[in-house]
Amino acid sequence: MDLGSGRLHDLFKWSGIGYMIAIERDPEAYEEGRKVAEASYHATLTIDYIRADLTKPEHIDRLISSVPKIWSVYCFFAIHYFTGQKEDFDQIVRLIQAKLRPGGRFCFTCFSAEKIQALPKEINFGNQYYIKKKYDDQKPGFGRKIGVYISSIGYEHDEFLVYSETIREAFPGFKITRKNFSQFPRAPENEHDRAFSFLNDLWILIKPA
Ligand SMILES: C[S@@+](CC[C@H](N)C(=O)[O-])C[C@H]1O[C@@H](n2cnc3c(N)ncnc32)[C@H](O)[C@@H]1O
Repeated sequence: MDLGSGRLHDLFKWSGIGYMIAIERDPEAYEEGRKVAEASYHATLTIDYIRADLTKPEHIDRLISSVPKIWSVYCFFAIHYFTGQKEDFDQIVRLIQAKLRPGGRFCFTCFSAEKIQALPKEINFGNQYYIKKKYDDQKPGFGRKIGVYISSIGYEHDEFLVYSETIREAFPGFKITRKNFSQFPRAPENEHDRAFSFLNDLWILIKPA
């Protein structure tokens, strides 16, 4: 199950998988993704592509009652949209706790809140990227907003920091592994791509059996 799946343009990352549930809120992204999901060249992969807002309790209730139990949940570069307030985050936690099988895994990627906290209030990476902190309070928690600019996207968007405390409290008993992007092979060649990319971590949480 892929939370905040986007337009499904990189389905190759699921090669070898027979079935997935993808969930996306944005109508345009959903329309585009629906065409990709229906394309015949993905015939070996069955996709249930569902339009839902993962912060809405009624959408979560509907998903809990309609989707099967699963072994893996992914949330790539999207979990930061759910940490604006605790009520939002509680909804995806409820979905994951209800649908993930014991022994199954929840993987997500996001900026390391600790690394961002250590940066100046505004930092520019060679005009390719910038990050502006829009919060004053340094305590970990919900609603710590940052503005992020990525030149290939072309505008600044807001997102929220994801703190280790938030994750550990929401998933007690899960075995947690966290890897920084700098630990992976094939680092970006450009120094600004590399510095920006290395602000991210991959988290892997395994539900107790
Ligand atoms: C930065 S994109 C990442 C897309 C994809 N996971 C990837 O790795 O390419 C974040 C996605 O999360 C979706 N999203 C944000 N808030 C959401 C919500 N409340 N419910 C469902 N999807 C949401 C956005 O519409 C967007 O497509």
